Amino acid sequence: MAAGMIDIRRLSFRYSGSESDALRDITLSVEEGGFLGIIGPGGAGKSTLTYAINGVIPHHFRGDFYGEAVIDGIDTVGSSPQELAMRVGSVLQDIDSQMVASVVEDEILFGLENFGAPRGEIENRIRDALATAGISELRKRSIRSLSGGQKQKVAIAAIMALLPKIIVLDEPTGELDPRASRTVFETLRALNREHGITVVVVEQKIMLLCEFAKRLAVMQGGRLVLEGEVSGVLQSADALEGIGVNIPRIATLARELRNRGLYGGAIPLNIEQAADMVRAAASGGGA
Ligand SMILES: Nc1ncnc2c1ncn2[C@@H]1O[C@H](COP(=O)(O)OP(=O)(O)OP(=O)(O)O)[C@@H](O)[C@H]1O
Ligand SMILES: [Mg+2]
Repeated sequence: MAAGMIDIRRLSFRYSGSESDALRDITLSVEEGGFLGIIGPGGAGKSTLTYAINGVIPHHFRGDFYGEAVIDGIDTVGSSPQELAMRVGSVLQDIDSQMVASVVEDEILFGLENFGAPRGEIENRIRDALATAGISELRKRSIRSLSGGQKQKVAIAAIMALLPKIIVLDEPTGELDPRASRTVFETLRALNREHGITVVVVEQKIMLLCEFAKRLAVMQGGRLVLEGEVSGVLQSADALEGIGVNIPRIATLARELRNRGLYGGAIPLNIEQAADMVRAAASGGGA
């Protein structure tokens, strides 16, 4: 089997003291340069799956760990948290608990010093990371004065300065309005497309996720119940509704038009495609 950037094989995990598995027999690969979205109802194991990728399990949370997670060629169980941190950057669900400095550039500097980045490289790394996250103008700002969306981008910049191959984000837009949410995803797309970073993101805003992710993983009760290209996963709309995942209204509309013989194309994943679908349906369908 060809090695991916992330290779999880038959992984099960049960938190110490818990009576059931948080992850059950998960097998999942993400190729280099992939962009995977993870969805599923509360308690499905989405956050725990991100912990399997960044090594928080088994290194931080204790429990019964079966199977393996191989990240950029190294097995998480046998690796140190430092080795993992150089490969995988994580943005936590609670962004404020992640911030340590009071000024933006210091937040980035802190990570670089912590990981022993060469002195001569520090200035360039800070500048590049801010540019990559699209926040060069925020460099001297106090973090307290930033909006939620800007803080997310500072967290992303601080990670990018460490030059990881993978970035993992757990509900990065949870506190953000639709506009700020979109700009965070645009930043992720730039990391993915222009810098080849492999992106894994847990996200409740499913339409946004479907527009930006290349593949979707659907979790329920600790299991990976569906995984595939976005449009393929959306075709299983009935299954998703059964799981309690709110499918995008546009997918419901596509299905409805298809059932009436008014549309025969793929499920639209952005506004332009949605407009094309409506036009096709209005002009008699079948397209
Ligand atoms: N630190 C922990 N100790 C014990 N059990 C935990 C811990 N963290 C999560 N769990 C349990 O593991 C299961 C999966 O939780 P997880 O947080 O991964 O789900 P999730 O899909 O991220 O949920 P949410 O949508 O609420 O964020 C749940 O039953 C949860 O109660
Ligand atoms: Mg979670």
